[in-house]
Amino acid sequence: MLFRQLFDGVSGTYSYLIASRRGGEALIIDPVLEKVDRYLQLVAELDVRLVKAVDTHLHADHITGLGALRDRTRCITVMGEQSKVDVVSMRVADGDRLGIEGILLDVIYTPGHTDDSYSFLMDDRVFTGDTLLIRGTGRTDFQNGDARAQYESLFGRLLKLPDETLVYPAHDYKGDTVSTIGEERRFNPRLQVTSADEYAALMAALKLPDPKMMDVSVPANMHQGFHQEEVARRGWAVTAAEAASLIGQRDVALIDLRERGERERHGVIPGSLHAPYIDLQENMKPGGMLHELATATGKRLLFYCAFGERSAMAVQSAQDAGLHKACHIAGGMAAWNEVVRTG
Ligand SMILES: [Fe+2]
Repeated sequence: MLFRQLFDGVSGTYSYLIASRRGGEALIIDPVLEKVDRYLQLVAELDVRLVKAVDTHLHADHITGLGALRDRTRCITVMGEQSKVDVVSMRVADGDRLGIEGILLDVIYTPGHTDDSYSFLMDDRVFTGDTLLIRGTGRTDFQNGDARAQYESLFGRLLKLPDETLVYPAHDYKGDTVSTIGEERRFNPRLQVTSADEYAALMAALKLPDPKMMDVSVPANMHQGFHQEEVARRGWAVTAAEAASLIGQRDVALIDLRERGERERHGVIPGSLHAPYIDLQENMKPGGMLHELATATGKRLLFYCAFGERSAMAVQSAQDAGLHKACHIAGGMAAWNEVVRTG
């Protein structure tokens, strides 16, 4: 496995680049905008392909690198389903498994620092975001923070992991890089409490100043969506309502770019072919499934995904590959389900 812990000294943020092998797929957790060049250099040096960029929560102390990484690599952006970000490519929920080639992360909903805070468990280690820090915990006094919810996330979820589980947080301000669940249980001063009330009182007494970057970071981090308007302006988008009349037509091939878990949870548009976005480059090149489908049959590829972001990027890739009839359903499955719901 390739595993790199990267540090942004300005915000004290740790980011993690993970891949199962050289030449394989990679994901990054909590990337910082100013460090995007560094990440991409490392991605090239390690000879991996960045396919997913994940934020553990909506950050208040730095601007996320999610949007920039997506724009430069066409990777999939991932956040929790509660996140107030305008658009991400994929939203995850508690109990999901987030995968890339050779690696599976268990998705654990750990609210408290914010109401969209998630932790990700990978074998012997857990990425705790700002829920559990080394000898500390994330503040709970803004962004819908809730000390009692955090108590449950800590004691009910993270501290239930085996003692030897490595703890990799999103921040450290003292120079510590890694800890373990057992070590934090014993020595983390915030965890030496016996009830949610006692924990809430401890957190209420902290009286922390707002993060320096908060007024800039939070609004910026809420607007990370891919600019689907450009795709629409070129005539490469149809609305979910328009899509309903195209489906079933013989000259249209409907392509679902989502992953299996998303299809199971949110349903499928009937008659669609499943071709996960992660395999798009393979499928789109000459000889690839989608390339052959489009060129051999002359069919118009109609892509869709969860929110229209992956499908908008797929349309661009298709256009780049010379498949000029390709288009996508703006707003994705979310928009489709809305049309179905309202008739
Ligand atoms: Fe945070």
